Amino acid sequence: MTVTRSVVLGCGSYLPSRILSNDDLARSVETTDEWIVQRTGIRERHIAAPGELTSDLALQAARAALANARLDPSAIDLIVLATSTPDQTFPATAVAVQAGLGMTHGAAFDLQAVCSGFIYALQVVDGLLRSGAYKRALVIGAETFSRILDWTDRTTCVLFGDGAGALVLEAQQQPGDRSDRGILTTHLRSDGRHRGKLYVDGGVSSTQTVGHLRMEGREVFKHAVAMITDVIDAAFKATGYTAADIDWFVPHQANKRIIDGSAHKLGIAPEKVVITVDRHGNTSAASIPLALFDAVADRRIKRGHLVLLEAMGGGFTWGSALLRW
Ligand code: UT7
Repeated sequence: MTVTRSVVLGCGSYLPSRILSNDDLARSVETTDEWIVQRTGIRERHIAAPGELTSDLALQAARAALANARLDPSAIDLIVLATSTPDQTFPATAVAVQAGLGMTHGAAFDLQAVCSGFIYALQVVDGLLRSGAYKRALVIGAETFSRILDWTDRTTCVLFGDGAGALVLEAQQQPGDRSDRGILTTHLRSDGRHRGKLYVDGGVSSTQTVGHLRMEGREVFKHAVAMITDVIDAAFKATGYTAADIDWFVPHQANKRIIDGSAHKLGIAPEKVVITVDRHGNTSAASIPLALFDAVADRRIKRGHLVLLEAMGGGFTWGSALLRW
């Protein structure tokens, strides 16, 4: 019996041109390249230019994904943009992307789940496509975290970067067996008891300011691997696949030690892990589609490959998605 699945038609990304190295940072805060590389794996990150907005990054990534899918914006009827750094409090940054693409049809909205935003967006879009309400969607993760960093706080400002990535997904009939392409399963979790461990100290209804990112890094680190492996086990249980079946593991890129620890605990070989944290830093909701594009562009990820995604971040929120490319 055939089933409807959300199948990837294209993938794109965009990084601002300015690169900020660890040595650059060491000139403004008390840190070293050695400390940052050892503790995080990060060597450099991209920073948006003055006046370059989250919607600008998102629009470039969306155009690249559409070009990769060989589609015109007229073929898209849904845009979901995961971000915690929107252009404005409202309207949604997604409608700026919609307008930038010249679209006056369909629906566009933002979704906020911090670093897990892209996985949350995938589950939401997958549900909407499989329901029959929409046919083709752009799912975008885009962030300008450089705008909410306290550049005098060495415990956070060395960790994050700016960027955007996007997928085009289409509702397609698949055979309903192990050859199915598209999103096979998604699992989301949150636990608001931890919301004070990674947050922004400002907001519309609280301070009427934008605020700065604050994090108890060690606390986040302590929970990360267990939460990630729990939600990946849920994906394996739901599908019957195991770590041995995975062609590519594309984790959220926050810290190389967390990625290595998760892959090791799950039994995923290091050569199957896509790493971009060294060049991108943590780009929050953008990190997974940026990493996906990296591995698609250099032909590691190919049609038919089984790809495992995961993320964990502020809230805490965490989630996994398993798809066949
Ligand atoms: O995507 C959202 C999820 N976020 C994350 O996954 C982040 C999770 N946390 C982490 O990745 C790590 O906890 C950090 C990279 C943030 C920190 O690494 P750590 O190994 O947990 O270091 P720490 O916080 O325990 O700090 C160790 C020492 C401290 O000094 P003392 O107290 O031992 O004297 C810090 O003050 O390192 C110091 N330190 C730094 N030194 C040089 C903190 N930041 C820096 C820095 N440069 N940038």
